[in-house]
Amino acid sequence: MPLRSKITGTGSYLPEKILDNFQLEKMVDTSDEWITERTGIKERRIAGTDEATSDLCLKASKRALRSAGLKPSDLDMIIVTTMSGDMPMPSTASILQGKLGAKNAAAFDLNAACSGFLYGLSVADSFITSRKSSRLLLVSGEINSRFINWEDRSTCVIFADGAGAVVLEPESGKRGIISTRLYSNGELWDLITLPGGGSKHPIREANINSKLHFIHMKGNETFRVAVKTLERLVTDTLHADGLKPSQLSLLIPHQANIRIINATAERLGLPMEKVFVNLQKYGNTSSASIPIAIDEALKAGRINEGDYVLLEAFGSGLTWASALIKW
Ligand code: UT7
Repeated sequence: MPLRSKITGTGSYLPEKILDNFQLEKMVDTSDEWITERTGIKERRIAGTDEATSDLCLKASKRALRSAGLKPSDLDMIIVTTMSGDMPMPSTASILQGKLGAKNAAAFDLNAACSGFLYGLSVADSFITSRKSSRLLLVSGEINSRFINWEDRSTCVIFADGAGAVVLEPESGKRGIISTRLYSNGELWDLITLPGGGSKHPIREANINSKLHFIHMKGNETFRVAVKTLERLVTDTLHADGLKPSQLSLLIPHQANIRIINATAERLGLPMEKVFVNLQKYGNTSSASIPIAIDEALKAGRINEGDYVLLEAFGSGLTWASALIKW
């Protein structure tokens, strides 16, 4: 029997503050009708001023550990995926490790923007199946709202905050992660960016005045590449793993835009009952969207033992990725 990585615990945390489309109507030139029609989003969560990304991750992690029946000291590795970490140095994973008291764990961050969770899952799977880790916490947390220009209606209606966590452990048998696939096209790096605060555009008055410390997105161009790429990705993934779409129990897509999700489901011929959608409540929480969705899907009884679940994501980089899990 092959050794596989199995998700043995899940948890999520969404900040309390809700910002709905009607409140946004009062902030920028937009409407509930436009946002609902073009994105599917109705409301999103915004972190409190006293919360940092590691705080969101901490709450999601404690819930995931509780559901796995583990203590923080049981962990041997912590991977945090984020594009909105607490600070450039140290890693948010190290800060989280300290807050958790996970004293036996190595800790590092991974940034693949909205594809971060699936990149993290692939790295975690490699650590587990090569026996370098046996109790791994993978957490994806984002406070995108700190990097949003509230005068830019093309981004401020979309991006939002949240965190999701999973615990991974090894298991011999047919259940667990079947495959992960990672892709990138750096030629299109400038479609979604947060240019400021790094070595290219450090924190200087001129760069702040040029609004380089905000997320910038060429939305429509990104949308068109996302639809084409994801349609190919999901069909290729199922084909390579020898699965028919009808054998899938659930598709959990990155929650970016309902029109992208509909197009992907349509390409697979999947009815929407087999697609998990929660972006109407949370907007686009970047790398956190898939683990939040997994946690909610499990709690809603949408995933059962033996189910085939397909995960897919697309984001800045450009990056895109899929994972097939037999639950
Ligand atoms: O998370 C990972 C990667 N990100 C994505 O996958 C996001 C991909 N992109 C999208 O989801 C969509 O492109 C958006 C939701 C961002 C935009 O939707 P769109 O249908 O592509 O709109 P558009 O950018 O082509 O703009 C159409 C019109 C424009 O007006 P004109 O030039 O036709 O007069 C925009 O100025 O809609 C206008 N517009 C808005 N109107 C009201 C753009 N944003 C808004 C807004 N409210 N919030």
